[in-house]
Order: sequence, then structure tokens, then C-alpha cells
Amino acid sequence: MKQMAIVLAAGQGKRMKSKLYKVMHAVCGKPMVEHVVEAVQAAACDRTVVIVGHGAEAVQTHLGGKVEYVMQEQQLGTGHAVMQARELLGQEDGVTVVVCGDTPLVKPETITAMLELHKSSGAAATVLTASFDQPAGYGRVIRAEDGTVQCIVEDKDCTPEQAAVREINTGTYCFDNRKLFAALEQVTNDNAQGEYYLTDIIGIFKQSGDVVQGYCTTDLAEAIGVNDRVALAEAERLMRNRINHEHLLAGVSIIDPANTYIENNVQIGSDTIIYPGSIIRRGTIIGEACIIGPQADIANSTIGDRATVKYSTVNESVIGEESTVGPYANLRPGSVLGRHCKIGDFVELKNAVLDDGSKVSHLSYVGDARVGKEVNIGCGVVTVNYDGFNKALTEIGDHAFVGSNVNLVAPIKIGDGAYVVAGSTVTKDVPAGDMAIARERQVNKAGYAEKIKSKAKAKKNNSSPKN
Ligand code: UD1
Ligand code: CA
Repeated sequence: MKQMAIVLAAGQGKRMKSKLYKVMHAVCGKPMVEHVVEAVQAAACDRTVVIVGHGAEAVQTHLGGKVEYVMQEQQLGTGHAVMQARELLGQEDGVTVVVCGDTPLVKPETITAMLELHKSSGAAATVLTASFDQPAGYGRVIRAEDGTVQCIVEDKDCTPEQAAVREINTGTYCFDNRKLFAALEQVTNDNAQGEYYLTDIIGIFKQSGDVVQGYCTTDLAEAIGVNDRVALAEAERLMRNRINHEHLLAGVSIIDPANTYIENNVQIGSDTIIYPGSIIRRGTIIGEACIIGPQADIANSTIGDRATVKYSTVNESVIGEESTVGPYANLRPGSVLGRHCKIGDFVELKNAVLDDGSKVSHLSYVGDARVGKEVNIGCGVVTVNYDGFNKALTEIGDHAFVGSNVNLVAPIKIGDGAYVVAGSTVTKDVPAGDMAIARERQVNKAGYAEKIKSKAKAKKNNSSPKN
């Protein structure tokens, strides 16, 4: 049987008080609508149609070609939104999953289980429900005596008895596709909000003798619909718990899960320990037995086994096995460390490739550089890579030693095993094995210290105002 999905993502989301389109707000680093699309696609829906509204280019740009789009010019309600897909899907036989783009925690396995119940029971519609202690804001699911669903009543249209019902509509459903589009023809906007409610078709089915099932999830997180920032923060917390829980079960130690922020699409090897305050963003792959944090902020990077990253920022970079980064280092895009490298405190790297065993231990900037093996870059070294217009490359050969407080004015090559003396400003290439010294020679003036001090003292006494 053909399986299709419709994702409702055209609503403005006024209550978010945001210039950003509601379903593009991220939960654990991923826009809500993308969570939902991934869930329906993982639940084996062959076609996914996303209903978008004005200002929804962002959704189309973000999701690209993996779904089809239909424009809902005016947002007249969820029923009206689904109706917009009639031209694309109306003639299909099969089952259609409808999901709201603002329910980011709905799980593929739940959609699959709901589809199973739907198909085996021969229902015209199956509603994903949940039981909330505080159901306010959600549509209430009214059951008939035989346990099937009688109707769904929106919060604003509830009688006091209906408002007391705790079973809510999560906004996820399966429908017989043909019956869905036929029933939508009968939906009116005669209700408290003057909208065409998708939920009204449940009552329409029931009246025409069709069966409507309810599938109640016990994972309340799945049911959360994000209408404002309070719910967004709650969705973030619930998603974070879910992600952290999976990593914990997979053998990752997280010292304080409530204060560890791991986004979706992150891989972490077993026996890695993550200390509090760390943010690990999407696209990051961390090996086994690493030490991450406290307060590591890592994005879209790859970290080898047994590496350490403490109090540091790592963005679009690669850290080889057993290398250490931090505390207080900043690895900007294109930083690539081999194995056993050391990047110490207050070091910034950018587009810098360091081969195995090289060290930049303190207070340096290494940008646009190719650094060989076992190179020592001393404290305060700066690659002078920018003349205000162009970026230039610094190349440093294997086993070279660059002393403290050296400026390497790029483009420049320091040969294998070369030695650059501390304090030098190097403007010419240094051949392999040579020593470079590029600084003023020192002059010592015998006994001059006292003389210069008394001169300075006299100057102070003559000029400083009394206080
Ligand atoms: C909806 C349900 C409610 C359910 C809740 C679950 C209806 C009438 N009510 O209420 O029973 O408990 O979800 O979270 O369906 N949208 C459009 N076009 C529109 C209107 C809405 O695409 O014209 C989209 C929104 O972008 C959103 C989704 O549909 O993603 C739900 O709309 P929303 O206004 O948030 O509905 P709720 O009031 O939360
Ligand atoms: Ca909603």
C-alpha cells in the first residue's frame, strides 16, 4: 500500500514573536520541520509533501529536493492546509500520514506503530494521542463507549466537561487518502477561531460510519507542540535528554547530562567522557576514549581516539588521535592536527595543517600554514598571513624549531630541521638545517642602570603635580 506524508508548515507562529519562520526554529541544532520530515521519511513514507506559506523560502532552501512543496497562500487553518495537497495527492490510493511541523519530537517508530494499527484495524483515520495532566492548549480526544474516537474538540471550543479530558490530539494522524480529501470538502470554519480545522474530519468520519482509532503514546515528549518560546525551551530539554540518553546507553560517559548539549547527527565513541558545559554540534564525530570538556564547543569536526579538548572552541576541524587541545584554544575552520599534537592555551589556528607530534603550546596565532612533523612552535609565535588584501602561506618543515615571539612574515618557508631564534621577525625563507636570527643585536652598557634610574626620578619630581 502506498504511504504518503503531509507536513503542515505554513502557519505564521505569531506566538513565537520572531522574524524567523516558526518551523525553522531549531531544536538541538536542527529546525523543527526537518525533525518532522526525517521522522516521516524514516517511517517509510514514499512521498512527502510540505505545506509552506508566505516567507517560507527558508524552509525550501533548507530542505531542498528531499520533499515536495505546496504553497498555502492564506493560512486558514490546518484543514485548509491539508486541502492544498489535493492536486498532488488527491487521486492516490493509500495511506497518508499528516504531521504538524511544530511537533519535533515525534518518533519514526511511533509513526510506524500507528500505521500498523491503522492498517490492521481498517480504520479510516488513526490519531496519535497522549495523556497530559495539563492538557490546556491542545485539542481534546473524545472517545466513544467502544473506545474508538468520536471527535476532537479544540481547546477554545471545549465545554467544561470536554476541557477536563486529559487525552489530547498530538496533531499526527494516518488517513485513508481518498477518504481524507473527500471529508475535507465538508469542513467549515464555524468555530471559535474561524478556521478550517483538520480535526473536524474525525467527527465527519464518525458520522458517516467510518472507524477512527486512537493510538496513545506513553512518551509524552512526542506530543509536545511548539507554539511559543516556553514550549521551544521544553522541546529542547526533552530532545537533549533523548539524545544524551542514547549516547549514555552506547557507552559514552556524560558527567552531567542536564548541562551537556549534544545536537543531532553527532557520533561519539565508547569510553569517551564528556564534562559539563560542552556543546557538541551537528556533523561532529568523536572517537573512543576521548576527554571532551569542560566547556568544549565543537562543531562539524572530527576528533580521533583518545584525544582531549578542554575549554576550547573547535569548528570545522580535524584533531588526530591522542592530540590535546586547550585549555582556551580556538580552532577555526580548516585546522587539521595529526596524531600526538599539542595545542595549548590561548592558541588560535585557522586553515593550519600540523603533522604528527607538532606543538603550539602557548599564546600563538597560526593561520594559513602547513607545518611538518615534530615541529615546536614557541610561545607567542605569529604567522603574519595577511597584508590587508591577500592571505599568504607559511610552510614549516619537519623537526623545525620556531623560538618564542617570532613573526613569520608569509609567504615564507622554514626548511626541515631549521631553527628560528626567539624574537626574530623572519621575512626570508630559511633553508633546511639553518639557523635564522632576525633581530637587533643586544648592547649592555656597564653600570648604566643607576644613571638611568636617577634621571627618571628627577624627571618625575619636576613634573608630577602634588596630590
Ligand atoms: C493543532 C490541532 C490540535 C492539536 C495540536 C497539537 C487543529 C485544528 N488543531 O492545534 O488539535 O492538539 O495541533 O500540537 O489542527 N498550519 C498550516 N496552515 C494553517 C494553520 C496551521 O500549515 O493554516 C500548520 C502550522 O504551521 C503548524 C501546524 O499546522 O505546524 C499546527 O497549527 P497550529 O496553529 O500550531 O495548531 P494548534 O493550535 O497547535
Ligand atoms: Ca501547534
